[in-house]
Formats: sequence, C-alpha cells, structure tokens
Amino acid sequence: MRTSSTIDRKINSLYVHIPFCEHICFYCDFVKVKKPQDPNVIEKYLDKLEFELNEYEDKLDEIQSIYIGGGTPSCLNEEQTTRMCSLLHRYSNKPNFEYSIELNPESVTREKLEIYKKFNINRISMGVQTFDNELLKKIGRIHDNSIAINAYKLIREVGFENVSIDLMYNLYDQTKQNIQTDLNYINELKPDHISWYSLIMKEKSVWGRKNMKVPENDELFDEIVNQGLKELGYIRYEISNYSLGEKNKSIHNMSYWNNSLFAGVGIGATGFEQIDGEYYLTKNEGNILNYKKEFEHLSKEDYYFQIVMMGLRLVDGIDISLDINKEIYDFYKQKIEEKIKDNLLEIVDNKIRCTERGFNILNEILIDFL
Ligand SMILES: C[S@@+](CC[C@H](N)C(=O)[O-])C[C@H]1O[C@@H](n2cnc3c(N)ncnc32)[C@H](O)[C@@H]1O
Ligand code: SF4
Repeated sequence: MRTSSTIDRKINSLYVHIPFCEHICFYCDFVKVKKPQDPNVIEKYLDKLEFELNEYEDKLDEIQSIYIGGGTPSCLNEEQTTRMCSLLHRYSNKPNFEYSIELNPESVTREKLEIYKKFNINRISMGVQTFDNELLKKIGRIHDNSIAINAYKLIREVGFENVSIDLMYNLYDQTKQNIQTDLNYINELKPDHISWYSLIMKEKSVWGRKNMKVPENDELFDEIVNQGLKELGYIRYEISNYSLGEKNKSIHNMSYWNNSLFAGVGIGATGFEQIDGEYYLTKNEGNILNYKKEFEHLSKEDYYFQIVMMGLRLVDGIDISLDINKEIYDFYKQKIEEKIKDNLLEIVDNKIRCTERGFNILNEILIDFL
C-alpha cells in the first residue's frame, strides 16, 4: 500500500544555473567559472541546457516558478540572454507565474532588463552584499555602492515591481555602524524582499583555501539585522529571508522549504524529484560542458529528515495538519517532545517551529534528528 508520502507528484519549480562570473568573490564556493572570452563556450552551455530541458519532456509543464541563478546570469550578453529566455519561454508563459533572475550590479543594463521584461521575468534578485565601499573591496566585489544604487533605480525604472537584494553580514571588519548604514539604504530604496546571509566560511572559496575563519563578532549582528528590518516593516519568514508584506515572499524559495518537488538544470544545479514513487536528490556533476545528473535515493527516513531540515528554516515551521507532516510528527514524536521541553521547538496553530532560542542553533537541533 502506498502512504501519502509515495503518491507521485508533479515538479513544482525549476532552477536554472548560469555558472559564469566576471570576477570571483573571496567568500564564494558556488559552482562558477570566470566568464570565458570565447562566446562559443557560452553558446555550447546554452545548447546543453536546451538538451537537458528537452529530456524532461512534459514533466515541467505544471511548474509555478523559475529561478535563474548563478554564477552571474546578468553577465550574458544580449544575444545570449535572449537565447536563454527563449529556452524557458514555453514554461513561463502563463499567468501567476513567479519568474526570477539573479543580477550583479555591474552587469545590469537597460537593454538586458528590457529583454527580461519581454520574456515575462517578473522578479529581480540583485547581489549587493553591503553598501560600504571599503567592505565591498575587501570581499572581492567589483561594484561600488553607486553602481548598485543606479542599477536598482534602473530596474525600477524599467518597471520591475518585485525586487529583492542579497546582503551579507559578519564580514571582516564590519561594524555595527556598517549594518546601520545598510539599513538606512534599505529604508531609502525599499526593496520588496531581502536575503541577508551571515558569512559562511566555505572551504573551497578563496578565503577558505587560505584557512581563514569566520570572524568572531561580539556585536550581535543577528539581533541588529532582525530588529532593524522589523522596524522597517519587513517580515522575517525564513532564517535569512525577509519580505515587505506577505505577498512578497519568494514563491520559488518557499517551494524548497515546503517539500515541493523541483528540478535543477545546468552545472551544479540540484533537484528534488520523484520517480516511480521514490524520492531522489539530484545534482548535476562534472564540468560546464560535460556534466550529468547524479541521483541520490532517499530512504523513508532520509525523506522525513529532508522535510524537517527544510521546514524548520521557516519561521512558521512545518504544518502538521498535512498528512505527510503528521506522519513525520509521529515518526519523530519523542525527539520533538524533548526539544519542546528544552524550549527549542514549539507547536503553535498546528505548526512545529523553532523558538527564538532554537532558531539560533538550528544546525545543532537537526543533528539530533539524524
Ligand atoms: C552565489 S550568489 C549568486 C548571485 C550573484 N552572483 C551575486 O553575487 O549576488 C547568491 C548569494 O549567496 C550569498 N553567498 C554567497 N556565498 C556566501 C557565503 N560564503 N556566506 C554567506 N552568503 C553567501 C551572497 O549574498 C550572494 O548574493
Ligand atoms: S558571489 Fe556571485 S559574483 Fe561572486 S563569485 Fe559567487 S556567484 Fe560569482
């Protein structure tokens, strides 16, 4: 007999990875390469994406969102951008579709923004990281704050109504005052959504290879960021994500956290798919022109853990009125009750979620669910 967790489900969203960057930032270990001089390499990469999308046949017909991320999708030229958008047009050409693209400030142009608009891209996510010019240099960015502000204004001028910015904190030499300056810019620009990540030291990044460690800050940046954004009217809905009102939560990202199925195309892209009732995590492994999808089968326990790991990132937590989540609750009941006693988890309105204390040590909580 099939339980609720093994009924075949449709793929809900699509992630498309564009791995090219103008310059490599010191903290970053995402799958990326320096943009090749030879445009044929990018052409071939787009051919490979086309091939990969075709392999999905009709399995992507019901997706509700696309996220083009990177790397730096905005470093493609106009012709390449048009080709990329054309490949995705048959999936995105429908109402109520969230269609996002990641941009770096230095490669934003009016012409490219107009191409995005023409192809129905309706959500922009721009990597700002900080508005402090000295810090930008120290982390290896090639834009300064005036480039970021002008790009942001141009994005609005071309008519994008849903704009997110990425920021980072806990950077080297970052002060409370720097964070306050970032908050002041947010107040001025009013992006609809903010992803504000605490620096994670990645072994394969430029800094990681030099054995640098995350700076120890005694300035309680988490609190300053959370409190500052709250005062500006942003709702924290996930550990690192904040929206100006309910309607600006990222539908695409919510699908990762809410246990929806998603496909990833392009080098390094990950997915979560179901085949013949079984769940798999997928990852495209190899190099930019020669990669292939690897499938990691999830046992029932792995699948449950996956849902808990993603769901507890949400401020609202995991809805146990849904059958599958009730199954998970029953499976982990004893552990959940222990964490409730320790004031790390709580159940509110039928949702299991982290308490404020729990949110700060989510990774430690998750280890106990393994
Ligand atoms: C991988 S980047 C891709 C988007 C784009 N190229 C950019 O630089 O903004 C996505 C976001 O991840 C965040 N990020 C990357 N590496 C990080 C790290 N080591 N720690 C925390 N956040 C990181 C940055 O805020 C970045 O904007
Ligand atoms: S942070 Fe963005 S621009 Fe910088 S190296 Fe990573 S993907 Fe490229």
